[in-house]
Amino acid sequence: MSYRKKILVTGGAGFIGSHVIRLFVNKYPDYQIVNLDLLTYAGNLANLTDVENMPNYSFVKMDIVDAEAITELFQKEQFTDVIHLAAESHVDRSITNPTEFVMTNVIGTVNLLNAAKFIWKDNMEAHRFYHVSTDEVYGSLGETGMFTETTAYDPHSPYSASKASSDHFVRAYHDTFGLQTVISNCSNNYGSFQFPEKLLPLFINNIKTNKPLPVYGKGENIRDWLWVEDHARAIDVIFHKAETGTTYNIGGHNEWTNIDLIKLLCKVMDKKLSRAEGESEKLISYVKDRAGHDLRYAIDSTKLQKDLGWTPSLQFEEGIKKTVDWYLENAEWLDNITSGDYQKYYEEQYSKR
Ligand code: NAD
Ligand code: DAU
Repeated sequence: MSYRKKILVTGGAGFIGSHVIRLFVNKYPDYQIVNLDLLTYAGNLANLTDVENMPNYSFVKMDIVDAEAITELFQKEQFTDVIHLAAESHVDRSITNPTEFVMTNVIGTVNLLNAAKFIWKDNMEAHRFYHVSTDEVYGSLGETGMFTETTAYDPHSPYSASKASSDHFVRAYHDTFGLQTVISNCSNNYGSFQFPEKLLPLFINNIKTNKPLPVYGKGENIRDWLWVEDHARAIDVIFHKAETGTTYNIGGHNEWTNIDLIKLLCKVMDKKLSRAEGESEKLISYVKDRAGHDLRYAIDSTKLQKDLGWTPSLQFEEGIKKTVDWYLENAEWLDNITSGDYQKYYEEQYSKR
């Protein structure tokens, strides 16, 4: 079969990438989807068992930091488009090992930009490079206001600094070389297949196993939560409809203080686990705050809603219940991750707090 597009999706074995792959492979049988992933601690092919045998899906294990391998792959495969999600994504790990974030998030992105520029040089207009980024590049808000697409960058963690840098490179390749780029900056995602170092899956697992819930600082920081499948839908719409060189913010207008969110989660889990009301809340344990902890994120996604007609599909309380159900029903997926190496990280990360 001859395919209409051959899209390289990087980081497809991770949390959001696996949802993007699932959506594209199923929705576009006339696109060939190539998933490139290094399978770091966060990459897990078990996230993709339902699509791994689809004829329009294939997987390549590769490091985006390896410029030579990336260039050779682009020359051989002649991708028509790129959707770039591969990244080191956990803020706490960026505090322990910033250099790894520079390598993957900055150098890795530049390697992909160079390879795309090289193979598309004679016909730039026909190809799209979509860079998936985060609202953390905008820094931290006070009690009011929201991030818009024109908010000045002000990153505070090594993670957000590396993502901000990669965004700047993507824009520079558009302005300097005419690469047809698009960037989106999204708020906190939640849902199935998220690695249990991030707040929600970590706390679901700790409640289930009766472990303390380590709340950083006073739990007053605010995040704006979006269902991961709504993020994947937004990426689909932006990939197909956004004007070249533009940026879109993606978010659910759904702000929660960490402590309110954790209490809601405890309540939902009490019910699901048939515990007495208030039982899981007893696990809450306030620990040393994250260094440089951003106080508040809130995304204004009006531009995406108005220009491209995207809206979030799921109401938050329903999303939390669905998410809890998924992690409880997929105990094997969770256990396979939480045994072994991840356990070592967990002990090191939280014994110091
Ligand atoms: P994740 O950590 O779950 O997945 C990252 C994937 O990238 C993993 O599969 C990993 O193996 C792969 N990877 C890492 N280094 C690599 C390398 N050198 N070469 C090839 N592959 C490599 O991350 P996620 O939460 O799914 O985030 C995906 C993207 O979305 C990231 O760019 C992140 O900055 C962005 N983002 C995430 C969120 C969120 O809430 N999780 C919100 C907004 C934006
Ligand atoms: O805003 C988008 C970003 O959201 C993405 O770019 C990142 O890749 C993603 O990891 C996420 O970053 P956060 O730092 O907001 O997510 P995390 O799940 O690590 O933490 C959410 C909030 O919960 C944050 O305020 C820190 C707090 N927290 C987190 C952990 C892991 C705790 O209080 N205790 C914890 O153990």
